[in-house]
Amino acid sequence: MKILVLAGDGVGPEVTGQAVRVLQWFAQNRNLDLRLTERDFGMTNWQKHGTLMPDETWEQIQAADAILFGATGSLDQAAVIPPEERRKGSLLRMRKGLDVFANMRPVKMQPALAEGSPYKPRVTEGVDLIFVRELTAGMYFGTPRGVETLPDGTRRGVNTHTYTEAEIRRAVRFAFELARSRRNHVTSVDKANVMEAGALWREIAGAIHKEEFPDVGFEHMLADNCAIQLARNPTRFDVLVTDNLFGDLLSDAAGAIIGSLGMLPSASLSAPDAQGRRRALYEPIHGSAPDIAGKGIANPLGSILSVAMMLRWSANRPEDAALLEKAVEGALAKGARTADIASPGEAVVSTSGMGDAVIAALENA
Ligand code: NAI
Ligand code: MG
Repeated sequence: MKILVLAGDGVGPEVTGQAVRVLQWFAQNRNLDLRLTERDFGMTNWQKHGTLMPDETWEQIQAADAILFGATGSLDQAAVIPPEERRKGSLLRMRKGLDVFANMRPVKMQPALAEGSPYKPRVTEGVDLIFVRELTAGMYFGTPRGVETLPDGTRRGVNTHTYTEAEIRRAVRFAFELARSRRNHVTSVDKANVMEAGALWREIAGAIHKEEFPDVGFEHMLADNCAIQLARNPTRFDVLVTDNLFGDLLSDAAGAIIGSLGMLPSASLSAPDAQGRRRALYEPIHGSAPDIAGKGIANPLGSILSVAMMLRWSANRPEDAALLEKAVEGALAKGARTADIASPGEAVVSTSGMGDAVIAALENA
């Protein structure tokens, strides 16, 4: 498997380094066919080469079986980098270029952390849900967009929220198929009451349920209510499917209820091609975390669990994926805690210390 590693900025290289160690463990111990290429990306690349993403990296992105991405962005980026270059070297361009419309974000409570959760264990215990966030359309891509100047000199920022029937259909179908491999329930989230694209979303999701997946449990939910339900009663959810913007916000919030943003993985997939291959991008859901970058304290589990998703979805090795997920659970059960998930007074390990703990758990599995 040809994997392109784009560790990016901030904590990106720190957490991705541990994920790569795990991949190498699978190559050495479980015969994973691994061909790794690593490239700079984002500000890191800008500082070295004066571009966020060189053309040859773009070609490698096209050629890879899977991409392992870290994070990109730094607070001063907007100030230094010209808008055209920002567009060319953006994560949005990569997602769109690969057409990875199905962004899966699982949120699962780790049993070992249930007690230390700042929320009542009663609420977070047993949470096991997954978002399917539509990733290549909607608010982040609609045109027109930009900052325009009105005749009276007022500047106005413009984004446009659009969804075609086809864009909605493929995301919703993906969610229903995923639900059949889980607990067989889909919640479709929109704001059909105030948004045109939301009303179309609701109509199409309802029709797909009725016509193609009547065996799967189904409900519509308004996005604001969904935010409340996630905080109050997250165990009620199995698969949630929603648009790009709501998916971004709600999945981050859902991540927070189980502990730390640093533990959440994601996988973004395209439709299968004629050979059944999907383009695939794997990344932790957090950003470059400038507040903790360079200190060796970031939690690498989001990136490591993204490798588990890669083993499942790109390498077709579900047993290895499960093995890795168990190893993460095992490392936590043995007490490995980075600072973000430690309770007061608990001993803390570094980023690489958490990598060590996961690899030790793999060795002992
Ligand atoms: P962030 O996700 O980088 O950080 C939010 C909070 O979570 C911070 O307090 C951070 O310390 C903590 N955190 C994040 N990852 C962690 C980890 N692995 N271990 C422990 N704690 C962790 O979001 P923020 O601060 O809003 O954005 C920082 C930069 O990242 C911005 O430039 C933003 O544009 C970019 N960003 C990039 C993303 C990507 O590359 N996919 C996604 C989100 C933000
Ligand atoms: Mg986000």
